[in-house]
Amino acid sequence: MAPPLLSLQDIDLSFGGAPLLEGAELIVARYDRIALVGRNGSGKSTLLKIAAGSIAHDGGVRFV
Ligand SMILES: Nc1ncnc2c1ncn2[C@@H]1O[C@H](COP(=O)(O)OP(=O)(O)OP(=O)(O)O)[C@@H](O)[C@H]1O
Ligand SMILES: [Mg+2]
Repeated sequence: MAPPLLSLQDIDLSFGGAPLLEGAELIVARYDRIALVGRNGSGKSTLLKIAAGSIAHDGGVRFV
C-alpha cells in the first residue's frame, strides 16, 4: 500500500491561550476528497495552514 501524501499526527497548537488544536490527526492519500467541517473559529484554516507547512505547530508530527 502506498504511503499517504500527507500525515499529521497528534498535532497541538495554541496561540498563547487555551489550546486550539490538541491531538489533531489528518491523513491524506492520493485521490482522496476531503471536507473539513467545524464551527467558526474552531481552527479549520489553521489546521490547513499546518498541513501546508505555512505555520509551525507546537507538538506532533507532520509528514509530507
Ligand atoms: N496567527 C494567529 N494568531 C493568533 N490567533 C489566531 C491566529 N490565527 C488564528 N487565530 C485564532 O485561532 C482561532 C481559529 O482560527 P481559524 O481561522 O483557524 O478558524 P476557522 O475554523 O478557519 O474559522 P472560520 O470558520 O471563521 O474560517 C480563532 O480564534 C482565531 O482568532
Ligand atoms: Mg477559516
